[in-house]
Amino acid sequence: MMAVPSTRTPVVAPLVTPLVAMVGGGQLARMTHQAAIALGQTLRVLATAADESAAQVTPDVVIGSHIDLEDLRRVAAGADVLTFDHEHVPTDLLEKLVAEGVNVAPPPQALVHAQDKLVMRRRLEALGAPVPRYAPVDSIDDLDAFARTLDAADGAPLVVKAVRGGYDGRGVWMARDLRQARDIAGRCLADGLPALVEERVTLRRELSALVARSPFGQGAAWPVVQTVQRDGICVQVIAPAPGLAGESAAAAQRLALRLAAELGVVGVLAVELFETTDGALLVNELAMRPHNSGHWTMDGSRTSQFEQHLRAVLDYPLGDTDAIAPVTVMANVLGAPRGPGAPATAAMSMDERLHHLFARMPDARVHLYGKAERPGRKIGHLNFLGTDPADLGNLRERAELAAHWLAHGRWADGWDPHEQR
Ligand SMILES: Nc1ncnc2c1ncn2[C@@H]1O[C@H](COP(=O)(O)OP(=O)(O)O)[C@@H](O)[C@H]1O
Ligand SMILES: [Mg+2]
Repeated sequence: MMAVPSTRTPVVAPLVTPLVAMVGGGQLARMTHQAAIALGQTLRVLATAADESAAQVTPDVVIGSHIDLEDLRRVAAGADVLTFDHEHVPTDLLEKLVAEGVNVAPPPQALVHAQDKLVMRRRLEALGAPVPRYAPVDSIDDLDAFARTLDAADGAPLVVKAVRGGYDGRGVWMARDLRQARDIAGRCLADGLPALVEERVTLRRELSALVARSPFGQGAAWPVVQTVQRDGICVQVIAPAPGLAGESAAAAQRLALRLAAELGVVGVLAVELFETTDGALLVNELAMRPHNSGHWTMDGSRTSQFEQHLRAVLDYPLGDTDAIAPVTVMANVLGAPRGPGAPATAAMSMDERLHHLFARMPDARVHLYGKAERPGRKIGHLNFLGTDPADLGNLRERAELAAHWLAHGRWADGWDPHEQR
C-alpha cells in the first residue's frame, strides 16, 4: 500500500525558554546568569556599559539607564518577568511598567521597603518586627528630641543614615555623640538629603536571614548566617551562624518568611539583623534580590540563591535550602588600596594570583566578577567548606588569607611558594 502523504505540515515545537530581564549589570546579575544557563533560561540585563560585570558574559544586553522609562521598556519587552540586581529603580517607573502589563518581581509596593529606610522602619514597626529606636530628621530639633528619648541623651552614640541611596556603608554615618550627630544631620539637611537617626545598637554580631518567596506563596529559608563587616562593608559570612541557639535561628527564619509574605516579596529577601549584647534580634534592613550574605550558597547549599531567585520570580517550585557542609565560610575579595606606600598588585595579574591560590589551597571555590580593581571594591568572593565546625577558626583564617592574597598579591602570613619544595 502506498503511503498517503500527509497534508499536515509537521509541527516542530518552538524552543520556548523563559526570558528573565534583570535591571543592573553587576556581579549579582552575572551570577544569576550562571544559574539561568543551568536551567536553560535566558537572562537579559540592563547594563550601563558593555564592560559591566554581567554584560561581559551575557549575550542579551541592553545598554541604558535604570532611571529611564524607555530603557526599562526595552529590557522588559517580551520578557516573562522583570527583576533586579539592585534596588535603585524609581517605583513610579515600575508602576508604569506594571500598568503596561510587565510582570515586575518583586513588585514596586514591596521593593520600596528595600529602597527607603524610613518607609521600611515604619512598616516593620507596624508589623511588630523589632527594630532599633529611630526617628526621621527634618530639622536639628528632631534630632535633639530623639536624643532626649535615649537613656544617655547627650553622650549616646547615634547613627545618622540617608533615607535612600546608600549601600556598603555609604550613606551611614556613626556619630560619637549628639554634637557630632548634629554636624552630620546639618550637612544632610543643607544638601536636601532626607535622613533618619537611630540609636547605635551595642552589637554582639550581625546576622542575616535569607529567604525566597514565589508568587504561588511558597517560601524557603536558608540557615541563618553571621555577617562580619569592616568599615560598613561585609568582609566575611559564616554559615550557619556559629553558636546561634536553634530557637533564635528558627525565630529569625520565621520572621523573614513572614515579612516576605506580608510585604508581598517575590524572589530572594535578605533580612539583615543585629544581635544585641543581650541576645535580642533587631531588623537592620531589607534587600530584595540575591544578597552578599547568600554568596556562600553557591557552593555551600543544595540550591544557590541565584537559582532560587530565578525559580521564585518564574513561580517554579523552590529548591532545597539545606547546607551541604557543617560550616561554610565566604570571604569577599575587596580591591586593594593603591597609591604611595601601597604594594603594587599590578606586578602580578589576577590570573597569576589565581594560579598561586590554587597551588596553596586546592579547596578554594573562587568567584570573580570581571571588575576593574579599585580600592575597597567588591571584585570577587571565595567559599570554603569545612567538615568540622570546631575547625571554624582555621577555616576563617584560610578564607581571609585567600581573599587578601587575591586582592593584594601578597600572603599576609608571609607564605613563600618557592620555599615549599
Ligand atoms: N543602628 C546601628 N547601630 C550599630 N551599627 C549600625 C547601625 N546601623 C548600621 N550599623 C552598621 O553599619 C552597617 C551598614 O548599615 P546599613 O544600614 O546596613 O547600610 P547599608 O545600606 O550601607 O548596608 C551595618 O551593617 C552595621 O555594621
Ligand atoms: Mg546593610
